[in-house]
Amino acid sequence: MINLADVSMVRDSKQILSDINWQVKPGQHWVLMGLNGSGKSSLLNIISGQQWPTSGTVEVLGERFGSTKIPNLRKRIGWVGSVLNAKINQFDTTDRIILSGIFNSIGIYQEYGQSELDQVDEVMNRLNITHLKGRKYLTCSQGQQQLVLIARSLISNPELLILDEPCNGLDIFATEQILDQVADLISQENAPTVLYVTHQASEITPMFDHTLLLKDGLIFDQGETSQVLTTENLSLFYDHSVNVDKHGNRYLVYLDHSKG
Ligand SMILES: Nc1ncnc2c1ncn2[C@@H]1O[C@H](COP(=O)(O)OP(=O)(O)O)[C@@H](O)[C@H]1O
Ligand SMILES: [Mg+2]
Repeated sequence: MINLADVSMVRDSKQILSDINWQVKPGQHWVLMGLNGSGKSSLLNIISGQQWPTSGTVEVLGERFGSTKIPNLRKRIGWVGSVLNAKINQFDTTDRIILSGIFNSIGIYQEYGQSELDQVDEVMNRLNITHLKGRKYLTCSQGQQQLVLIARSLISNPELLILDEPCNGLDIFATEQILDQVADLISQENAPTVLYVTHQASEITPMFDHTLLLKDGLIFDQGETSQVLTTENLSLFYDHSVNVDKHGNRYLVYLDHSKG
C-alpha cells in the first residue's frame, strides 16, 4: 500500500523528516504517535501527495511519485485533518460538504446529478449521520463535524484513509463514536487501509494492529502495536518514565511520578 525508502524533507533549512523507511502492507491499519512537531502531518502530507520530500522514494497504492499523476492518486486517498477543517465553509450544509468530497474540492463547482446525491445519502447512512442532512456545518457539534468530514473523505471509496488527529477536542463519547465508525468501516469488505494519528493511547483500539512512533522527524520505532507500546519503549520515546498498562483491550499511558 505504501513504501517509503530513505525519505527526508527539509524546509527553510529545517530538517523535518529524516531517513524514513516505512512499509504499510494491505490489511494493516496503523497508528502514528509523536509529540507536536515530530513530523506526523508532514509525513502524511507526503503520502497524500500534498508535499514533496527532499529526497527518497515514495510509492503509494502502487504508484511511484515522480512518474504518476498526483491528482489521480489523490482521488484514491481519503484525508481528514486540521488543514481541511480550517478550509471548510462553516455556512455550507453537511450534505454539500460531503458531496464536495466526490470532486476533491472545497465547495462545489462541478455538475452533479442524482447518482452523486445518492452517494451522499449512502455514506451519511453508513456513518449514522442522516439526521444532520441539511444542517449548516457550524451548527454541528465538533464530533458531528468530524463525522461529516470522515463521510466526505469516504464518499469516493478511497483505498487509503488518513485520519490526522480526528478526535482532537472531542469528549469521550464523541471519540468512541468515531472509533466505532472506523471499526465498522475496517470490518467491511474492501475496507480502506487506515492511518490514524493520535496523542491518546486510549484511542488505540485493537483494530490498529501496527504503530509507528515518530520523534524529531525520525522513526523511533515501528511494528506490531503490542510490541511497540511497552513501558520501556515509551519511556525512552518520551524521555520520561511512563507506565503502559492495558485495561481490557485499551492502552493506558501515564507518567510515573515516582521516578521523577
Ligand atoms: N513548510 C514548512 N516550512 C517550515 N517548517 C515546517 C513546514 N511544515 C512543517 N514544518 C515544521 O516541521 C515540524 C513538523 O511539523 P508537523 O509535521 O506538522 O508535526 P506534527 O504533525 O507531528 O505535529 C514542525 O516543527 C513544523 O513547524
Ligand atoms: Mg500534525
